[in-house]
Amino acid sequence: MSNKNKTLLVTGGAGFIGSHLVRLLVNKYPDYRIVNLDKLTYAGNLANLKDIEHKENYSFIKGDIVDAVFLDELFATHQFDGVIHLAAESHVDRSITDPMSFINTNIIGTVNLLNAARKVWGDFTDKLFYHVSTDEVYGSLGETGFFTEETAYDPRSPYSASKASSDHLVRAYHHTYGMPIVISNCSNNYGSFQFPEKLIPLFINNIKHKKALPVYGDGKYTRDWLWVEDHATAIDLIYHQGKVGDTYNIGGNNEWKNIDLIHVLCDLMDELLDRPKGDSRNLITYVKDRAGHDRRYAIDASKLMNELGWEPTIQSTEGLKTTAQWYLANMDWMENITSGDYQKYYQEQYAER
Ligand code: NAD
Ligand code: TYD
Repeated sequence: MSNKNKTLLVTGGAGFIGSHLVRLLVNKYPDYRIVNLDKLTYAGNLANLKDIEHKENYSFIKGDIVDAVFLDELFATHQFDGVIHLAAESHVDRSITDPMSFINTNIIGTVNLLNAARKVWGDFTDKLFYHVSTDEVYGSLGETGFFTEETAYDPRSPYSASKASSDHLVRAYHHTYGMPIVISNCSNNYGSFQFPEKLIPLFINNIKHKKALPVYGDGKYTRDWLWVEDHATAIDLIYHQGKVGDTYNIGGNNEWKNIDLIHVLCDLMDELLDRPKGDSRNLITYVKDRAGHDRRYAIDASKLMNELGWEPTIQSTEGLKTTAQWYLANMDWMENITSGDYQKYYQEQYAER
């Protein structure tokens, strides 16, 4: 596809991954118009985009993808060449306590976007709908093996089931209506601007405030961690060079058992905060397990590496250190989002564990 004068809609651009992607696109493609559509839920934060909000090729629209009428008007007004769809409810624990908001945003919201695009995209020439998804759609692995693009879907949480459902619908619009689509399924991301409900920023914030570190179950659950900026470069690459209709797995080849990662993070934080070695590890508290907790995720990203030449740039301990340093240097960002409703969320989520 040509790289000139495109108008791209990014949904969920005020969230964690979306803000990194918007920053990359706005800086890399001065000839594009990047439109960021976001509802600004608890997870959306325009402070994540302060450094690029003044750029001429960037604009922000506040709106809800569950509102089909609003989306139809939006697509009729802007001539979007492409959609990169990240807006979602994204936290597994919240999907256990409130599944309906996941069904509404992740499933209905995605179908609304597909319908709005289909109405104005005519014969689909030079158009592309990119759905950003998760490796959690593949279910849970045992001690060995990896998820490939051929792995059968087996989602187990309301979150992963809602993402699996939206993946199926995106593929269905490709097969049924010929809509040009591409999907990527990525492993756990970490880095700056992540809401402190996910493991790494939550634990950094708790260590800073000497609060307990709630480790679910036996702590031996495994995740494959990817530096968020490497995810953003993968999305850019797939959007521009991926094969229409295809799926790409994205992963860091960087597996950690939770407790091992937590130990490294604790020791790093002791160093950065100039506290005695072992101080942060003393905060580790084993708590009641997450319901239906998936044991292990691990991604085989060789298709993306071999076909498009992508590879992750940052090794895990280096990335963890940079991440911890970023949160410590940006505690005002953290304080802003952990005041108010966050305290209530935290009490409810962790009180009974
Ligand atoms: P996030 O929760 O940080 O951000 C989600 C964004 O979507 C927020 O800005 C929020 O305001 C917006 N949003 C939510 N509901 C909306 C609605 N109804 N209308 C418009 N905007 C709405 O999520 P994230 O971690 O940045 O994840 C982004 C995408 O990547 C999601 O689709 C997620 O499933 C996927 N993903 C995330 C990870 C990860 O590790 N975080 C890994 C793989 C895939
Ligand atoms: P999380 O960051 O919520 O991502 P996901 O559930 O999408 O993988 O959790 C990462 C791992 O850390 C997961 O195995 C659950 C575990 N975890 C804890 O042990 N304690 C916590 O407080 C949180 C939020 C997660």
